[in-house]
Amino acid sequence: MENQQIKELIKKANSASEFSYSPYSNYKVGAALLTKSGKIFTGTNIENASYPAGICAERVALSKAVSEGESEFETIVIFAKDEQNLPYPCGICRQSLSEFSPNMNIVVVNNENQYETHLLSELFTHSFTLKK
Ligand code: THU
Repeated sequence: MENQQIKELIKKANSASEFSYSPYSNYKVGAALLTKSGKIFTGTNIENASYPAGICAERVALSKAVSEGESEFETIVIFAKDEQNLPYPCGICRQSLSEFSPNMNIVVVNNENQYETHLLSELFTHSFTLKK
């Protein structure tokens, strides 16, 4: 993956995190999901007074993409500005992304100039699947 493209995804994930609705955790997350066809879908976390109704940034981006006919993914950037820890995706998001692209790249960022790249298959081994 080109550095330039990662920078562009980081910018979009950063912008998306500004729309975060997270009055309960105050933890703002943005995601930018790059499809194999080259489109980018963004998402942010949206919380709710009924806590389990909240949804992570990654699954918002994923739902936007799949509902517009995209289901093959290259990379997702997950951004949490100035947080101490890198925003590794939660278990539900790993399972959700793995359904579509188990070998995609996961880029976690907590500062515009500092990120780590992993393969989903490395973060989420022996996943449950019904695919043959
Ligand atoms: N969150 C995400 O959006 N993505 C993650 O990978 C981890 C957690 C959100 C959910 C909740 O709104 C807040 O961050 C704190 O858990």
